[in-house]
Amino acid sequence: MQQQRALHRFSEARSAASVFVLLALLLQSVCAVGERAPDPPAPPQNTSTPAQVVSTCYDFLESHLCAGELWGLPFHFYRPSLQKYSPDQWLWDSGSHMIVWSHRNVTNSILDLRTMLQMQQPDGRIPEEIFWGNRTDAQRLELLDNWSNERACDLTQMPVLPWSLRAIINATLATAGPVAAQKIAEEFLLPLIKYFRWWRDTRAVDGDDLVYVLHGWESGLDASPAYDQAYGIPEDVPQPPYLLLYPRFEELILTYKFLYGWNQTAILHAPHAIDGLPLFNFFHMKDVGVNSIYAAGWALLGAIAESIGQAGLAAECYASGNATAKAITTKMFDPQTRRFFHLYKNVHTGEEKRASQNTVQTLLPLLLPVLNVGKDIADDIIAGDLTNTSKYWSTFPVPTTSMDSPSFNPVFSESDDLMWRGPTWGFTNWFVIEALSSRNYTAVADALVQRWLALVEKSGIWEQYNPITGDPYGAVGLGMSTLIVDWLYRTGIVRD
Ligand SMILES: *[C@@H]1O[C@H](CO)[C@@H](O)[C@H](O)[C@H]1NC(C)=O
Ligand SMILES: *[C@@H]1O[C@H](CO)[C@@H](O)[C@H](O)[C@H]1NC(C)=O
Ligand SMILES: *[C@@H]1O[C@H](CO)[C@@H](O)[C@H](O)[C@H]1NC(C)=O
Ligand SMILES: *[C@@H]1O[C@H](CO)[C@@H](O)[C@H](O)[C@H]1NC(C)=O
Ligand SMILES: *[C@@H]1O[C@H](CO)[C@@H](O)[C@H](O)[C@H]1NC(C)=O
Ligand SMILES: *[C@@H]1O[C@H](CO)[C@@H](O)[C@H](O)[C@H]1NC(C)=O
Ligand SMILES: *[C@@H]1O[C@H](CO)[C@@H](O)[C@H](O)[C@H]1NC(C)=O
Ligand SMILES: *[C@@H]1O[C@H](CO)[C@@H](O)[C@H](O)[C@H]1NC(C)=O
Ligand SMILES: *[C@@H]1O[C@H](CO)[C@@H](O)[C@H](O)[C@H]1NC(C)=O
Repeated sequence: MQQQRALHRFSEARSAASVFVLLALLLQSVCAVGERAPDPPAPPQNTSTPAQVVSTCYDFLESHLCAGELWGLPFHFYRPSLQKYSPDQWLWDSGSHMIVWSHRNVTNSILDLRTMLQMQQPDGRIPEEIFWGNRTDAQRLELLDNWSNERACDLTQMPVLPWSLRAIINATLATAGPVAAQKIAEEFLLPLIKYFRWWRDTRAVDGDDLVYVLHGWESGLDASPAYDQAYGIPEDVPQPPYLLLYPRFEELILTYKFLYGWNQTAILHAPHAIDGLPLFNFFHMKDVGVNSIYAAGWALLGAIAESIGQAGLAAECYASGNATAKAITTKMFDPQTRRFFHLYKNVHTGEEKRASQNTVQTLLPLLLPVLNVGKDIADDIIAGDLTNTSKYWSTFPVPTTSMDSPSFNPVFSESDDLMWRGPTWGFTNWFVIEALSSRNYTAVADALVQRWLALVEKSGIWEQYNPITGDPYGAVGLGMSTLIVDWLYRTGIVRD
């Protein structure tokens, strides 16, 4: 497999970056060592009642525990799965595990967050992936093929941590009282504000308060069709094959590493194209989901700051969140079609354009406390898009691409490994329900929780699912799919 992928890379290396990328890929494949150990077989799952779903979810999480010491630092976190993912700590996966553990044993959530913050960078960035896993010296060295160092990668990931902190504080309040909850808020609030300031100061570089992601991997929705055009895929190729898309992911990483030394300021300020020829940093993407979670995350941090009497910090958080919320409603909303759009820069001209694809991230402005485009359009989005049976209301919602989009593909193919092009996932479902719940759309929220429960009762806990048939795909027991537990408790379907 490894070998085959390497060959694919050669046959595909192309365009302005090709000679350079070819060299780098050659280097990589020469250095490649060893095959990954085979995945363990999937364990049986008991999911016929809601209570069994909960216990199956915690069994999975428990079995994903990684605890020990490395670089003189203690770690305690949960890997995403025993299959497919290495024993490393990912930002948004761990963020989801913290929410789930908060209902059972909040100490596990706290240890996970403390573990992660040990690798917060001096500039405030929290890495997408921290390489705690056991590796041979050769495997450690290999990490430098892509990254500036061998401890953590240079990207970040969907800024979900304010919701994780909220869950931790809430659970601490319930189990240990207000003094303990205040202490927890004081421990974690400032590092998270520092992280959000990093997003604001290094990623909102156009003066419009919208943040860029440097790679599809940073949203977590890796191969979402939202990014196709930013990667230079022509609009008339709505379902690009692996060979057309995946090499772009690698090219970007390698150009950031070898051309820009992972200096993010340099990456975001370098010229985009010269005379119509794309330069190496061709990917310029403002994802509407990332921006919504970023803006709503600021609001949540503001509320936490306010709750512990930090009025000055709260004002900063609210102001930053409101600025981005306003930019989302003015720059990313199209009054004609009454929907939100991603923005990207055309690979050749550098001109900012709306990405045509309708993907699940376009529902996430519903998270914004203020969603005013002349009038509140939450009703329109919920009736016209989310609960529309031609768009997002499938038998097992929420598909990650609108079903009426030419890019929609309900099937995940292991050999292609292009994720997020249609199948239903746990974290996007969680955010849609969170948005509905925060706006008091209780009936729709409950209906979605019920359909998600039906999906898990039918198919068990997996990485992703066909939104029409419910067929499961990818890694078994994926931690972020256990987020259903949060809603089983919060809606009172399960009590214990
Ligand atoms: C499934 O549930 C049944 C009854 O609740 C229990 O006896 C059995 O041990 C469970 N199996 C697994 C694999 O957890
Ligand atoms: C909660 O988690 C901590 C850390 O994993 C563990 O030491 C403790 O025993 C757990 N508490 C309960 C009641 O299970
Ligand atoms: C690495 O191996 C050691 C010893 O077996 C273990 O204690 C540690 O938890 C492992 N690290 C991870 C991240 O699994
Ligand atoms: C480096 O990144 C590429 C994708 O860009 C990946 O295929 C390869 O496995 C990575 N190498 C290491 C050592 O992680
Ligand atoms: C990163 O790039 C910027 C812009 O090119 C430059 O001003 C800065 O000095 C660089 N930082 C480092 C650490 O090299
Ligand atoms: C800013 O946001 C907060 C919460 O997100 C909200 O309560 C407040 O009204 C907003 N302020 C303005 C001026 O929009
Ligand atoms: C549902 O989506 C279809 C397009 O796929 C559209 O024609 C129809 O008007 C939408 N329904 C509502 C209630 O907006
Ligand atoms: C939702 O309902 C609660 C409780 O009735 C209320 O406090 C809150 O202001 C409502 N939120 C919105 C966005 O209407
Ligand atoms: C906070 O905790 C209470 C119970 O202590 C629970 O009812 C509520 O759903 C929790 N809220 C969140 C957002 O987790």
